[in-house]
Amino acid sequence: MSLEARLPLFPVTASVVPGPAGDELAINDRSLAALADEFGTPLYVYDQATMDRAVDEYRRSLAAHYAGASGITLAGKAFLCVAAAQWAQEQGLRLDCTGRGELRVAAAAGVDRAAILVHGVNKSDADLAAAVRQAGVIVVDNLSELQRLAALLDPIAPAARPDLWLRVRPGVAVDTHAYRQTGQEDSKFGMGAQEIIQAVRLCIARSLPLTGLHFHQGSHFHDPAPIGPALELVLDLAEELHTETGWLPGTVCPGGGWGVAYHEHELPHPPIEDYVAFVAARLAESCNRRGLPLPRLQMEPGRSLVARAGVAVYRAGAVKQSPQRRWLLIDGGLADNPRPALYGARYSALPVSNPARPPAGLASLAGPYCESGDILLEDLPLPALQAGELIAVPVSGAYHLSMGSNYNGACRPAVVWLNAGQAHLIQRREDPDDLIARDIPLPRRRD
Ligand code: LLP
Repeated sequence: MSLEARLPLFPVTASVVPGPAGDELAINDRSLAALADEFGTPLYVYDQATMDRAVDEYRRSLAAHYAGASGITLAGKAFLCVAAAQWAQEQGLRLDCTGRGELRVAAAAGVDRAAILVHGVNKSDADLAAAVRQAGVIVVDNLSELQRLAALLDPIAPAARPDLWLRVRPGVAVDTHAYRQTGQEDSKFGMGAQEIIQAVRLCIARSLPLTGLHFHQGSHFHDPAPIGPALELVLDLAEELHTETGWLPGTVCPGGGWGVAYHEHELPHPPIEDYVAFVAARLAESCNRRGLPLPRLQMEPGRSLVARAGVAVYRAGAVKQSPQRRWLLIDGGLADNPRPALYGARYSALPVSNPARPPAGLASLAGPYCESGDILLEDLPLPALQAGELIAVPVSGAYHLSMGSNYNGACRPAVVWLNAGQAHLIQRREDPDDLIARDIPLPRRRD
């Protein structure tokens, strides 16, 4: 019962295969039990086929619903490592990097300059310098940043400068957890209408390569309706600026944020086509009404490209029965997935071996960290489970590893990439020596 209900949360290649001691959950024909034996736990497994399929869905939907040019940017903040950046490049995606740390990853992956886009709400001088050297597009968050950028760009030959887009604060957020809203009037992100007008004038006065307008109203939403008024505002601004200055945005980017299903009660996964069709129709309609040409529509998803592709595999160390709860203590949690603690995110799970076993009541999964909030999921129907069993948590591909920590000296998990039946280790497991790699002992006191 739970198997059929929960399997659609897993990557598109998920299946159940025969193993030495009964059935085993597999991704891309690789048994998760065998992968856990080979690479240890906690283990993060990414299925490329699931990511490819999501990109295809974006591409097909854009082609079907938007008559203008279009493109897709992977929001690197959802999941970034060298292999993920290589994949983005192979897929012909742009890669959004926040600051010089993520830019370093893009450089290590050999991502073309033209494909790199830089975000950041308070970019440091070092971030801006790296962005000017490495990026094809810089999304400017505020007027002070624009002044600093103008000074950096002045001495650079026009052909060698990155394009600039301005981040608009539309004053409307999407419906999601308050910590994930970014478009509202009091948000720290982006510029209000008057600031945008000033920014455009400044770009024109300083001959800066301003080519786009960007906004992002929040993350993990299921209703695209608030994108409508945001597009209206952006096109009002475009129209006004066009009349005043002749400038038009060549690109409009409505950010990312489309949600996914994390729990069987939220299935099916919200269709990417619904989201793209809505944005495309509203953008085209707003442009046509104003007699403006269709800009390039650049979508910027993170979660909807990578979340479902990732599975976290944990090993249970102990089972505890308190009067109220059956606890399964597992070897990861808060340090590799802070989402339940931060947003109250609700996950599901399946045992890796014999996943079709019927539930034997409710169980809660907690990690090994010294935090009572280190609970991965609560009160999920699960079979009788033993210490030593493997548990697979689906929809673990976005904002887990990228928000992970070394709390309690936790070593970051190994990450394995599955493609065409092959398993590639793309990030080795951290070991305790990594935890002291940056440390510098105090000088020893001489007596
Ligand atoms: N563009 C910008 C400017 C963003 O800030 C974000 C996400 C995205 C695109 C991609 O949004 P997505 O398609 O992945 O929803 N830690 C939270 C999510 C924070 C999102 C931050 N910005 C979570 O785990 O739910």
